[in-house]
Amino acid sequence: MARRPLIAGNWKMNGLLADGLAANLTGLMKGKPDWPFEMAVCPPFTLLQHVGKAIGDSAIALGAQNCHTKESGAHTGDISPVMLKELGCTYVILGHSERRTDHGEKDSLVKAKAMAAHKAGLKTIVCIGETEAERDAGKTLTVNQTQIKGSVPEGSSAATLVIAYEPVWAIGTGRTPTNPEIQEVHAFIRKELAAVIGSEAAGVRILYGGSMKPGNAREIMALADVDGGLIGGASLKAEDFWAIAQSCP
Ligand code: PGA
Repeated sequence: MARRPLIAGNWKMNGLLADGLAANLTGLMKGKPDWPFEMAVCPPFTLLQHVGKAIGDSAIALGAQNCHTKESGAHTGDISPVMLKELGCTYVILGHSERRTDHGEKDSLVKAKAMAAHKAGLKTIVCIGETEAERDAGKTLTVNQTQIKGSVPEGSSAATLVIAYEPVWAIGTGRTPTNPEIQEVHAFIRKELAAVIGSEAAGVRILYGGSMKPGNAREIMALADVDGGLIGGASLKAEDFWAIAQSCP
């Protein structure tokens, strides 16, 4: 099944109005022909509206980095998926390892958030990945299996779900698994996804994330079961983010 690669930028808690990052990105893309890949940027909540306007008539999609499980209500400091949809978001990143670590998010909560996001008409980028200790203990596949089973809602489809495999030890460290290791985990994830969502799994984009940069993107994205990237640090420089996107096969 043909899968259109997705290059998504996760800005994390970075970005101020003055940075002009979205404008730099759209500037780089002006006049470019249709791309064979899809691009998305996921700025912090505070910049969603501004970035949404900046990318308005470009082909870049807008995404958020988290959402609540409820549509509205007494949840001080939280943002609902309906609110994100109203702001023009297409995607929401869920279950990022930094949320799992900083906020104790468990698979069951990630799944509830994904269900709420799908109901609101958002596409989800559900993040999974093992820690270094888990990899060293030979538990890489079982950890990712547990996270898939626990975090992915049964009714998800290739149109609503994207998975990001992000080994925790590769995030922001400059280290990555070897290419065969990445392909092994991605193929395994697709197989395990099929146990949850059936034949739709063949069409789900599985992104690699963790220290992806212009220098390694081409070889990683050439792997059979890698369908793009979730880019952190390198998405904060428009030239690097664009170079990574252009590395899509
Ligand atoms: P990184 O982050 O590209 O800076 O390693 C990726 C991510 O956490 O999504």
